[in-house]
Amino acid sequence: MVSPRVKTLYRHASVDRFLKGYKYHRRQIVGAMSAIIVRYPLILLNLKTYEEAMGQRAIEFARIAERVYEKTGITVAVAPQAVDLQAVAESSEAPVFAQHVDPIKPGKGTGHILPEAMAEAGCEGTLISHSERQLPMEIIEATIKRAREADLYTVVCADTVEKSRSVAAHSPDAVAIEPPELIGSGIPVSKAQPEIVRGAVGAVKGVNPKVRVLCGAGITDGEDVTAALELGAEGILVASGVVKAKDPSAALMELARAMQRWKKPVTDVTG
Ligand code: G3P
Repeated sequence: MVSPRVKTLYRHASVDRFLKGYKYHRRQIVGAMSAIIVRYPLILLNLKTYEEAMGQRAIEFARIAERVYEKTGITVAVAPQAVDLQAVAESSEAPVFAQHVDPIKPGKGTGHILPEAMAEAGCEGTLISHSERQLPMEIIEATIKRAREADLYTVVCADTVEKSRSVAAHSPDAVAIEPPELIGSGIPVSKAQPEIVRGAVGAVKGVNPKVRVLCGAGITDGEDVTAALELGAEGILVASGVVKAKDPSAALMELARAMQRWKKPVTDVTG
């Protein structure tokens, strides 16, 4: 575990300027081999505003994510509420994502979420335009740009194949296809609507093969994960299937084990 003192040291501006040149992943430098970097296949665990996953409980989920990585080698990134983000980042090596940031510049932005502030708090990436926080396309484009300026990894959500194609044109790091009607339903997109996953993979890769494709909505077990990967998805976005599970640790481990069984040679996206 990286001591808070070291993390604080790392955050000293001069060190930051020095590291910027290396395009290294923030925590990678500080924690050397202990920090978990974003690799595919990927699990992105969205804690939303679930009571079961706020405050100290958010930290517990991040520690579960870290243990799952240690046992399976599968990266589990965690997206807590903004108020919990720094405590989560300082309590575990799991990559931490914001659920939302605003395309604003430092200065007079009362009530908005500044990308640089999230990065300073230990954030590695951000969700953009989740179906529960949808944004118009011009704001999505501006947010991708600002998030990138703050060195945040960008995962843009889309609710249709067409939307995933339009979003890919703005070159986010990843697109997550999620039909809103299946979110929180326990009915997995990879089985109930395989055509939307396959369609999004084709649409996104057709625009820019470098853009990764995740799928989400209703995913609860290993079979749902295997089905998603067989459709060409490179990872999953999941929430209630883990947060609301009787045994969240066992639920997350099952999803990761399915990826471990399936995975092709690991591709390191941030080294
Ligand atoms: O962001 C993930 C989410 O929208 C999927 O929700 O609860 O169906 O896994 P859930």
